[in-house]
Amino acid sequence: MTNKKITIGLVFGGNSSEHEVSIKSAKTIYNAFSHPYNRDRFIVNPIYIDKYGFWEDLEYSKSILLEEKELTKINKINKNTINNLTNFPKESQKVDVWFPALHGPNGEDGVIQGLFKLTGKPFVGSGPLGSSLGMDKIAMKSVFKSFNLPQAPYIYLHKNNLLNKLFMKSVFDKIEKIINYPCFVKPANLGSSIGITKAYSKQELLTGIEIAAKYDERIIIEKNIQGRELECGVLGKSIMKSSVIGEVKFHTDWYTYESKYDENLSSTIIPADLNIDIINKIQKLAIEACQAINAYGLARVDFFYQEITQQIYINEVNTLPGFTKTSMYPTLWEASGLKLEKLVASLIETAKE
Ligand SMILES: Nc1ncnc2c1ncn2[C@@H]1O[C@H](COP(=O)(O)OP(=O)(O)O)[C@@H](O)[C@H]1O
Ligand SMILES: [Mg+2]
Repeated sequence: MTNKKITIGLVFGGNSSEHEVSIKSAKTIYNAFSHPYNRDRFIVNPIYIDKYGFWEDLEYSKSILLEEKELTKINKINKNTINNLTNFPKESQKVDVWFPALHGPNGEDGVIQGLFKLTGKPFVGSGPLGSSLGMDKIAMKSVFKSFNLPQAPYIYLHKNNLLNKLFMKSVFDKIEKIINYPCFVKPANLGSSIGITKAYSKQELLTGIEIAAKYDERIIIEKNIQGRELECGVLGKSIMKSSVIGEVKFHTDWYTYESKYDENLSSTIIPADLNIDIINKIQKLAIEACQAINAYGLARVDFFYQEITQQIYINEVNTLPGFTKTSMYPTLWEASGLKLEKLVASLIETAKE
């Protein structure tokens, strides 16, 4: 007797600044399902969403994954189809499990997870709540605070507060008392370091706030944590496991957009050189951070580690981390003994739990 193959709806592209990375992630995932380990168990239906939110059919989506298409040309054709869901592909009815290979706004923030939920089919990764909490730095940090999880001190403000002189005076007072310079100014909802400034003075802080306000009405200001940047993978739902720990090194002042996407400016060390005590603490904190915000399935939890004080700070939870061949998340699992083809199969198992 043969078991029925599981049909996966691999959704990628999307209306986000991380469109191109998403295509690369989808290629890696597609190839992992084509591996002999998975070939007889799964059918993958790729579903490409273009930069304007248009859902493409199976044939076209496959061509994006398998051929190198000129994306700019494609986007021009679909310019008038912004967020068009009327063409929600008919292939979706055959899908048994959704696999979002999407990053950033619309894909990682709970929006598409809500849609998946409405289809009644299971999906890889966190649900709408964990996804949106993981995406919103203010919401995420206030949950961490209520769970007493270690993190950098921060304050937040709304764009409208900028016009209120009294409010802004209290902001600057707090910055001098608890945050100081340099500090980090970030839009609450984004990724890839976009819209973030490291401010060394009040003047730079004001400019940083203006920059962040271009991306989001809600802005967060954080104390600078001088330390190593470590990342840990989390996998599972009822039982969550943490991977070995990786470290990112970069040649810029901080891990900027520039250094994130330029191999000459950054590199990773897996596993990171750490004592067992710190490893255990980080692996435990990674799971606690996910549980606090209700993230599950897969997540990459990022940390700062200050060696002098031995302090560990949680920076953030990424609920749909990069999934290219060289991305931290799959590489961390490979180093933990779980090869890519087994990792993707295990993500499907977790989704069906
Ligand atoms: N509080 C902080 N202390 C030190 N460095 C920070 C702090 N916050 C952010 N950074 C630097 O900025 C980078 C991007 O910040 P992060 O909050 O992770 O945003 P994103 O979601 O865009 O990745 C971090 O990897 C780190 O290099
Ligand atoms: Mg980050």
